[in-house]
Amino acid sequence: MLTRILTTEPADIAVAAALLRAGELVAFPTETVYGLGGDALSAEAVAAIFAAKGRPAEDPLIVHLADRSELPRVVAEVPPLAERLGAALWPGPLTLILPRGPDVPLLVTSGRATVAVRVPDHPVARALIRAAERPLAAPSANRFGHTSPTTAAHVLADLEGRIAAVIDGGPTPIGVESTVLDLTRPVPTLLRPGGVSLEQLRDLLGDVVVGEHVASRGPMASPGLLERHYAPESLLWLVVGAAPAALAWLRTRATSELAAGKHVGLLLTDEDAVALADLNADCERLGSNRSPERIAHRLYSALRSLDARRPDIILTRDLGEHGLARAVSDRLTRAAAGRIVRLIE
Ligand code: TXA
Ligand code: MG
Repeated sequence: MLTRILTTEPADIAVAAALLRAGELVAFPTETVYGLGGDALSAEAVAAIFAAKGRPAEDPLIVHLADRSELPRVVAEVPPLAERLGAALWPGPLTLILPRGPDVPLLVTSGRATVAVRVPDHPVARALIRAAERPLAAPSANRFGHTSPTTAAHVLADLEGRIAAVIDGGPTPIGVESTVLDLTRPVPTLLRPGGVSLEQLRDLLGDVVVGEHVASRGPMASPGLLERHYAPESLLWLVVGAAPAALAWLRTRATSELAAGKHVGLLLTDEDAVALADLNADCERLGSNRSPERIAHRLYSALRSLDARRPDIILTRDLGEHGLARAVSDRLTRAAAGRIVRLIE
């Protein structure tokens, strides 16, 4: 299959919408990462999404709407909390888990009674959903287990020849996926930290529980949130601890790997890069540690660039849990897949 590269011009959006109506798959930009879109109400299109990604059927998809007024089309019930959150944060990087509506194929939800829904805050995504005249099921547009795409080039690197088209809308602004919040439990539960911070959710809702797997940063209990995810090819090590101790650990570990003749990759904030500039390592900068937004925006493309240079090892440190840093920590934890060093405070 030839994968067409489309622009964000209205004529190209119309082409993409026609492809979607015909059951084809189109990758498109959202404010978080690129999504791999298909008709959410067609079991065939949804099956094609799983096949193109190589994604296991147990890992349910997010349904994307152009406007929150369309929510009743895909959910069985709109609880008051969903109204409140939707009014405050949609369009935006928040995915709500709600009771599944009867029109949503069970394939979308991996057989669950719940469905994940969001209204993306990106003009191209919303124009596309509107033109397609149907909700779009869209996981991140990467092969299963790979790093999520934040540019059309990333999408093509993973999916060229496997999907009908990609709309090139430039780099995605936020850079990490949406926050997933389960509203079907007695207390709203954070299943995945993302573009909306836990602090923002608590300001709006009061009580929000952090899902067990998020809190422990262990393997995810939630469907398909598999441990080895967002994973680079090179082995990534994550050190967790206060800045001076973590930097000292990075220096020691990098020095010993370099002494053994290894190609050492460092994924660092600008400040940390300056502190470790004397090492002869291959450093990729994430931006200032004063700006978690900037770091989130750069995270996946920095990881991809560094990984493309095939270091023997990638070393990075945890940046805490405040605001978007929580999502960054979560993704680095997944990328490390157990190679985590926790320093005693
Ligand atoms: O920012 C995003 O959310 C991007 C863009 C494209 O919208 N999409 C995205 O999709 O990250 P995906 O498929 O890579 O991640 C969806 C997450 C998965 O971890 C999945 O397990 C969870 O949402 N999920 C989906 N439906 C669920 C459900 N019914 N209950 C619990 N978790 C669910
Ligand atoms: Mg994904």
